Amino acid sequence: MRYPRIIAHRCGGALAPENTLAGLRIAARLGCRGVEFDAMLSRDGVPVLIHDETLERTTSGRGPVADLPVAQLRRFDAGSHRHPAFAGECLPTLAEALAVCNQLGLWANVEIKPSVGCDAETGAGVALVAREFADVVLSSFSPEALMNAASFAGELPRALLVESNSGDWFESLRRVDAKALHAAHQLLTVDSLRPLLEANFPVAAYTVNRRDEAERLFALGVAGVFTDRPDHWLAGEM
Ligand code: G3P
Ligand code: MG
Repeated sequence: MRYPRIIAHRCGGALAPENTLAGLRIAARLGCRGVEFDAMLSRDGVPVLIHDETLERTTSGRGPVADLPVAQLRRFDAGSHRHPAFAGECLPTLAEALAVCNQLGLWANVEIKPSVGCDAETGAGVALVAREFADVVLSSFSPEALMNAASFAGELPRALLVESNSGDWFESLRRVDAKALHAAHQLLTVDSLRPLLEANFPVAAYTVNRRDEAERLFALGVAGVFTDRPDHWLAGEM
């Protein structure tokens, strides 16, 4: 599995409205080689880029994403909350976002983000779109979503996301047949990484916004970091 060292979080990190095409374009213009974004299903089963289960924080819409069809979701403004200069950005579909990544030469980590109770169908819906594209890694906190994604796109590499060190990461990866771990950066130490690195499982860390922390992680053998500030680091890529 290939990992860019610097991966812009939620498309363009803090430099653009999250999970938008504007973010992808900004990441590419900065010289970023990789991006991460979140994909959730609309009511009619279309994966769209959004982080929260509800629309309020990042769009002009209201209520749960899963309650509305994609045509309606796309009418909302997903840019103005960040800055008026981004007014008119809409919620991209996953297919649109991956097509733009392809044009821009961006490696993409699609984080499968199921609404509550929709794990399996979100895994399937994301996989069916993502399998048409190259240079894609699927990830999720949801083992069920990851396993169902494998049934529809077994050839795409998959990573398990973890936010705690309860349980055995190695065993968790084995259970879902994931080939990499994406972990909260503060969990990563020489000891927690050792079994994974010895078995050649790449590890990526989220969300790393300080240079000294990125340096610590790279020295430990972490393959890539997800960051909100790719602009801080790309000038002299670490
Ligand atoms: O995929 C890494 C990171 O995005 C996970 O956390 O909440 O920002 O989606 P979150
Ligand atoms: Mg994410």
